[in-house]
This record gives sequence, C-alpha cells and structure tokens, in this order.
Amino acid sequence: MLHKNLSINEAGHLTLAGMDTVELAKKYGTPLYLMDENRIRENCRIYIDAMRKYMGEGSRPIFASKACCFKRMYAIIAEMGMGTDIVSPGELYTANAAGFPMEKAFFHGNNKTDADIEYAINVGIGYFIVDNREELEAVNACALRHGVRQKILLRLTPGIDPHTQKKISTGKVDSKFGTAIETGQALELCKYALSLSGVDLEGFHCHIGSQIFDYYPFRDAAEIMLRFIRTLLDACGHEIRILNLGGGFGVRYVERDPVVDYESNIRGLAGEIQRICSELSIQQPDILMEPGRSIVADSGMTLYTVGSAKTITGYKSYVSIDGGMTDNIRYALYESDYTALLANRPADTADFCATIAGRCCESGDIIQEDVMLPRPMRGDTLAVLVTGAYNYSMASNYNRIPRPPVVMVRDGKDYIAVRKESYEDLCRNDM
Ligand code: LLP
Repeated sequence: MLHKNLSINEAGHLTLAGMDTVELAKKYGTPLYLMDENRIRENCRIYIDAMRKYMGEGSRPIFASKACCFKRMYAIIAEMGMGTDIVSPGELYTANAAGFPMEKAFFHGNNKTDADIEYAINVGIGYFIVDNREELEAVNACALRHGVRQKILLRLTPGIDPHTQKKISTGKVDSKFGTAIETGQALELCKYALSLSGVDLEGFHCHIGSQIFDYYPFRDAAEIMLRFIRTLLDACGHEIRILNLGGGFGVRYVERDPVVDYESNIRGLAGEIQRICSELSIQQPDILMEPGRSIVADSGMTLYTVGSAKTITGYKSYVSIDGGMTDNIRYALYESDYTALLANRPADTADFCATIAGRCCESGDIIQEDVMLPRPMRGDTLAVLVTGAYNYSMASNYNRIPRPPVVMVRDGKDYIAVRKESYEDLCRNDM
C-alpha cells in the first residue's frame, strides 16, 4: 500500500492504523476525515530527532498549522514538545484555546493588522516573522507600548524557484511574501530593525515552496541566506542566531511520487549547511524548518459514500460522492494528485475509469479524474488517501454543506477530535 499505516483486514476492508475504515464510516457517517494520531507523532519524531542530531541542539521543526488546524492538533504538537507556526489571529486563538505554549509560536503572514499584532503581543507570542518595513514599524510600536522587546525573524526572499506548482511556490523575488535580498531591500530592512528598541532581530526566515522531494532546493536557499547572514555581520556586526528554512519535505500522494526519506535528507542538508558556514567563517545558526504536510498528510484519509456511477456514452464516467470541494478543494485549485479506492472492497479488480465528482453545484467540483476503481455502486465507501494536510483546514461551507467531523484513531481506539458541523452551526451567525 501507499503508506505503512494502510492495509486490508480479514473482512477485505481497508484499514487505517489497523482500524476498519468501513466500520468507522458506519459509526460516524460520511463524509468523514480520519487521522492516525500515532503517524502524526512518528512524523514529528523523525524531524525532531534528525534535526537535533545532525543540525545541533537548538535546531528543530515547528509545525505549520495551516496544514491542519484544530485544538486537538495543537495539543498533540505541544505534547511532542514542538513549536508551531500560525498565520492568522484565528489560528492563534485556536492554539491559545488549546493551551499551546505561546512562547513556542511563530506568527507568520504578509499582512498582520494592528489588532492582530496587539493580540499576539498580549498573549505573549514567541516570535513575529516580520514581512515588511511597515509591519516592522507596527510591531515595534506595539511592543514599545506594552513595554516589551519582541523577538522577531525577518522573512526574506532568497530568489529561488523550486519548480513546483506555481501557486505554492513563494521564494522568488517577485512574491507577495517577504523582502528581497537581491534588490538590497533586505539589508536596508535589517539596518532599520537594528535601530529599533522594541524588537530583537534574532533570525531570518525563507520559504521556497511545497512538495519538495529532496534537500537540494533547501541547500540552495540556505546558501543564499547564510551568505546574507555574513553580509549583515560585515555591514553591522550583528550575528543572526536563527535560520528558518520554511516548509518541510514533499509527501507521497500517489504511487508515482517518490518515497522521501526525511532523515537522510536532513542529514544531507545539515552537512551542506556546515560546509557553507565554515566556508563563510560564521557560526552555524540554529536551523528551523516548518513542516506542515509531511507531519499530517499521510496520517489522514477521507471516506465518502458513493451515490451513483454514471457513464456518458462515448465520453466518460462520473462517480458522485457525498462530499467534494467543500472538504477537499485541492484538485479544483491545483489539480493535485490523489489515490482513491473502494474501502469496502479494495482488492476487487480496478477496471472502471472514473472521474470522482463532489456534490456541489459547480462543474469544477472534482476530487480526481481518470481513477481506476472496481465499478462503484451506490452505497460503496470510497476512500481518498493522504488527505491529512490542507483538507480540513481548507474546507468551506459552500452550498451550505456542513464540514465533516475529524476522527482520530490511536492504539486501536477512535475518538472525535472535531465534531461534525450541524445545520444549526451553519446558521449560527445569521441574523
Ligand atoms: N512555512 C511557510 C511560510 C509556508 O508558507 C508553508 C506553506 C509551510 C511552512 C508549510 O509547507 P508544507 O510543509 O506544508 O509543504 N494549501 C496548499 C499549500 C500552500 C501552502 C503554503 N505554505 C496545499 O494545499 O498544498
């Protein structure tokens, strides 16, 4: 199977972490997000251990919670001893409500409002990742008002294109995120930050993109960032102690995606970073990474019930399910690949080519095109695999469809992490 937490039991049903997915679909109804808690913890552990071992004591992963955000998720991350990246006051609120240690939170985003900044400083956020000069001024002013010195990293663009999906590539000079090194604006911003008394410039951040399958693009970004650390040291005598390299490694959504060995990639990257630091005669800063999808994606799957399989003579076949772009918008947005199978009979011959369509009143509401399945019948349980990242967190109520629940499985037990939205929930703000 695609990942080691997937299997087939004696009943011939698909299992996640040994749990019968068809039984879970019956118990909780569909659509249903399932997540394997132990898998999440194992993924965290790989990053924590490898980064500490190869990159030094202070080097560590922080969870990019935009990939999967609800209170239980923050509790798991906190239990793992990890920090988190948050990108909005809503994520901040959720983390705080879950009791997440705020000093381990990093506040991202290219447009933090004055109210956001005030809120984050009030709850004692660990770090701001400052995007631009005006934001820097606002953070400084707010910190001074509160009588604190706020730790910050500056988000810089190293000018790297990792050649992944355009919409998820962010490290190029022409980007809405960060301040460019190439244009000289980053150095100006650093000088300005160093002149302010409400902020402490502790580090730099860059993020080059997502779905990166090896460490070479990270090495290239690290090299540019480390050179810039040297430039700043020469220009101002200021030493940068933290280098945050942004999002984590790619994830295997379909068989043709590579199996990525995170540990050996981190080891490879660490070796390159050490080499570059010694060439530049600088102390190696603590390295941070912000994995999101590689922490949660392969822990998850979504279960649906098939409504119909309709063949348009001379064209193609559509399989309609009871969810769609409201719980998984990634094909509509990025044409993302997914693996789908029938959870109640995964071993049947897959000889039927299907386009899986959601229930929204929208032709683009497609989960996947041209998937080979056994001919689906009304009532079959359809599983879409590796949906733990950017599915629940990107879900919407379009067409007034309630969001599905998130059920976690752990050590042979299942529990509700997020309850199913009710119709009353949908109307709760309507006057
Ligand atoms: N750090 C920063 C600053 C980021 O912008 C992102 C992703 C991450 C970390 C986490 O990257 P990951 O390890 O998850 O690849 N919604 C899209 C992806 C956009 C993500 C943008 N930022 C998706 O469904 O693929």
